[in-house]
Amino acid sequence: MPDTITIIDDRTGKKVTVPIQGGTIPASAVRELDPQLFIYDPAYMQTAACKSAITFLDGDAGILRYRGYPIEQLAEKSTYLEVAYLLLNGELPTKDQLPKWTHDVTHHTFIHENMRKRFVDGFHYDAHPMGMFVSSLAALGTFYNDAKDIELKESRDKQILRLIAKTPTLAAMAYRFSVGLPFVYPNNDLSFPANFLNMMWKVGEYEVDPRLERAMDVLFILHADHEQNCGTTAMRVTGSSHADPYSSAAAAASALYGPLHGGANEAVVRMLEEIGSVENVPAFIADVKSGKGGRLMGFGHRVYKNYDPRAKIIKKTAYEVFEVTGKNPLLDVALKLEESALSDPYFVDRKLYPNVDFYSGLIYQALGFPVAMFTVLFAIPRTAGWLAHWQELLIDKEQKISRPRQWYTGSETRDYVPMYER
Ligand code: ACO
Repeated sequence: MPDTITIIDDRTGKKVTVPIQGGTIPASAVRELDPQLFIYDPAYMQTAACKSAITFLDGDAGILRYRGYPIEQLAEKSTYLEVAYLLLNGELPTKDQLPKWTHDVTHHTFIHENMRKRFVDGFHYDAHPMGMFVSSLAALGTFYNDAKDIELKESRDKQILRLIAKTPTLAAMAYRFSVGLPFVYPNNDLSFPANFLNMMWKVGEYEVDPRLERAMDVLFILHADHEQNCGTTAMRVTGSSHADPYSSAAAAASALYGPLHGGANEAVVRMLEEIGSVENVPAFIADVKSGKGGRLMGFGHRVYKNYDPRAKIIKKTAYEVFEVTGKNPLLDVALKLEESALSDPYFVDRKLYPNVDFYSGLIYQALGFPVAMFTVLFAIPRTAGWLAHWQELLIDKEQKISRPRQWYTGSETRDYVPMYER
């Protein structure tokens, strides 16, 4: 069977044959037929906008791999910093590379004092931490004039280091400000996740429980990348105009903020609290099905039409965390919801399974994070994925500034009507 496809323009009889490669056909085929003909594809459901060697995802089979390594193996054996290196460089770090990378990230964790004193202190007392995080990312770029030198690899590497190292500091700062606690400076003797937990929770004596440190690291690994999702696409689209990486990451974080994307785990916990107890689950499911009760948050995914592999690992991690913190009382409601949905034809027929956010909120809550911090916790590790895609985009010769086309449905030309005639 030939690996080609032939498209015929029935208006002219003109036909064009193009190769099928990597499960895609080139849109240039349509251009060849008629330069004024475009593919109408709202939400890019059927569009591959780039080639990428970073993350492989098979939604039907429930497979996720970073640079070829199965997510299950990375979550079990690796660390977030090692995974960040892998995403950015294509290979796991060697024995010499890992200590150097860890040292470099660890020594970029501090932020300019003016960020805290002038910028963060300017927020309203009840500012949402994710709103603070998004704007702090963009503001951070103003401290580095070399951030604009995106064509220089040396400068790109420097900004990547800064962003990966400083996002936990910005995140913890946003939290401490939102609850009126004094800011805790980074402790460079601690690991990446332990330093973050220390900046979050230290009041007087505080020692990070190694089991919670590991759980945090696993959550960071699972959230580090997920190919061309809404946030990463925002990173690529903004980066394609050659904006600096801080502004591009702020755009990506803004996309992540929405409840249909990174804000879903916050919505899951609110939903579980609203349901309140196991007895109320059947009525809630009935409301979702009839369209009265909104969606079952934490269920369904644009790409996964099977159990999200990250959800399985998170569910296991949740039990490990609960051994230290005690069980989150909402767990029983979540388990009942999952059981009911997975045996209900409405969800089965639509291939709606738990996604990464279904259980992550329960762990975050057990770790003491307020729901408003959930998306920030997602954004910290996703920074590595955003930057890996940003870097890949900039060295990809086939890429240009992103500029989709539209199907215009507005008025035909008409003359301006003066105010007295309207
Ligand atoms: N609960 C109930 N019904 C759902 C749900 C849900 N969570 N998700 C999809 N459906 C239904 C839709 O109503 C639709 O039904 P219909 O065909 O009868 O109209 C069908 O399933 C297909 O849904 P779409 O909205 O077309 O699917 P899409 O791929 O556009 O949406 C999304 C994916 C946004 C994730 C959706 O499943 C959703 O809203 N889920 C809840 C929010 C959520 O958990 N988001 C986190 C995603 S993971 C992440 O971003 C990290």
